[in-house]
Amino acid sequence: MPGITLGDTVPNLEVETTHKNFKLHDYFADSWTVLFSHPGDFTPVCTTELGAMGKYAHEFEQRGVKLLGLSCDDIQSHKDWIPDIEAFTPGSKVTYPIIADPNKEIIPQLNMIDPIENGPSRALHIVGPDCKIKLSFLYPSTTGRNMDEVLRALDSLLMAAKHKNKIATPVNWKPDEPVVISPAVSDEEANKLFPQGFKTAKLPSKKGYLRVADVS
Ligand code: BEZ
Repeated sequence: MPGITLGDTVPNLEVETTHKNFKLHDYFADSWTVLFSHPGDFTPVCTTELGAMGKYAHEFEQRGVKLLGLSCDDIQSHKDWIPDIEAFTPGSKVTYPIIADPNKEIIPQLNMIDPIENGPSRALHIVGPDCKIKLSFLYPSTTGRNMDEVLRALDSLLMAAKHKNKIATPVNWKPDEPVVISPAVSDEEANKLFPQGFKTAKLPSKKGYLRVADVS
């Protein structure tokens, strides 16, 4: 996908939101942020997604992570839409700001475009406290995202960051499950980093590259 991607700094755009206007870097400062885009207000899939985000908001808050939505309509439209979002998903409160982008000027700058449709997508960037993109999803407008996966991927990023990227998380990993040790870490270093020990999988190749540690 063309435009900003993993490792790039999100442009410091001035945005209008349902809370107040701010520059993106001021919002991102000192915490992780999940920035997610939507094709438009009063549309069915978006209504379910924003509702789910509202329901999961406490999970992000517990992790010290901010949410920031974007939809391709204006502020008044967003404000009129929020009661529908909350009504459709019981227990949901849209406590996070939603950026207005009625002229679709912001989404190309944030690389939140569907290149097939040449229009808005369901993009999601997880942005680090350094304002750089750490993970991106790009879904077409016909496919709603899975908020459990957003949270799971975020937990993986936070876990890897906590261990200075000396660990990685394996397939379908969930918090409290063992992690794997990065191939860049020698056994000697791993012994120091994981005094509780680690297990090396016995594989036909006899190469000891798959090492598992319990860090919970
Ligand atoms: C929706 O949110 O339901 C939607 C938006 C744009 C295209 C298709 C579906």
